[in-house]
Parts: sequence; structure tokens; C-alpha cells
Amino acid sequence: MVGRRGFLATLVVSALGLARRAWTQGAHLLRYRPLARPVAIPLEDMQTQWRARPFVADGVTLDTAAAPNQPIRISGMVVRTGPPGENTPERFQAVCLRCPHEGCDVDYVSDPKTLPPELVAEIGHPVTEPVYVCPCHNSTFTVEEGQRLAGPAPRGLYRFRVTSVSGAAIEIGEVEEDVLLFV
Ligand code: FES
Repeated sequence: MVGRRGFLATLVVSALGLARRAWTQGAHLLRYRPLARPVAIPLEDMQTQWRARPFVADGVTLDTAAAPNQPIRISGMVVRTGPPGENTPERFQAVCLRCPHEGCDVDYVSDPKTLPPELVAEIGHPVTEPVYVCPCHNSTFTVEEGQRLAGPAPRGLYRFRVTSVSGAAIEIGEVEEDVLLFV
């Protein structure tokens, strides 16, 4: 027979499991909007793993933005996260460079061995893959999904969606909706 304490422990574990699942699903339920025109990155520029390429995308602010229906330019970076030859959209990740803390542009750090020890200590585990680091207050983000690893940023980096990869180009066709609220 399960005692009261065991029952409560089971309840807590179940609640934590549900919360974790909801958080994980939420991370994949970002809302995206089409860019004013898709960005095309030549595939030949992106042949090696962790190759990064900056780009500028054109969007239009939302009806609900402080300045609605205005053209907006968004700086981004696309990175090949998968090995050469795997040319599917999931193997390329694109984020907005604007830091969600106070708006500085983040830097792409291709060699994590160059990260300062105090930053690695704040992250709390060894860093073996490239990351983005904000030069203003050291918020640090993964390249895979732009998730926050350290620093004062209230969330991960805003994301673009790679909508297709053809034999010639990577197409970035959508951006996270919240970006289009920026003035
Ligand atoms: S503006 Fe990026 S961490 Fe503050």
C-alpha cells in the first residue's frame, strides 16, 4: 500500500513531468509570420558544419505594433548545424541577432574554448559547440534553437524559420511573430 508520503511524491513527480512537457512543447509552438520576401543564401557558402552567414531580412510590422504595417529590417545569422550533405531545413538554424535583453547585437562564437571561464561557470556545464554571446551583458545562447544559457536576457533569441533547401539555396521565409512588434 502506498503511504501518504509516497502518494505526494508521485503527485509532485507527475506535476513536474507535465510542466516540463508543456515547456518543451511551448518552445516548439512559436508563432511565425512570412517575411516580406524570403532570404536566399547560396548553399555553396554553407558546406561545412557550423558555417555561419549573416543576412538581413525584410518584414512588415504587425497591426498591433506601436508603428503598424511598417517595413522593418531584421539582422540575422544562419548556421549549418548538421554535417555536410544533410541539406534539409532542420540542419540549418537561423536567429535574429538582436539580443532580447536590451537590443545589442549578439556575436557568433565559433570556438567555445575562447569563452571566458566565468561565463562557462555561469552556464554550469562544459560548452562544446558554438554559441552566441551578447557583448553588452554576456547573455549566451545556443546555436541550435537560440535558447538562453546564461545572462540577464529574459528569453532565447528570436528565430527565423528555414522554409526550404534546394540544390542551390537555403530559403529563410518566416520570422517569429514577436519580432514584428519592434518599432
Ligand atoms: S543587451 Fe544583451 S545581455 Fe544585455
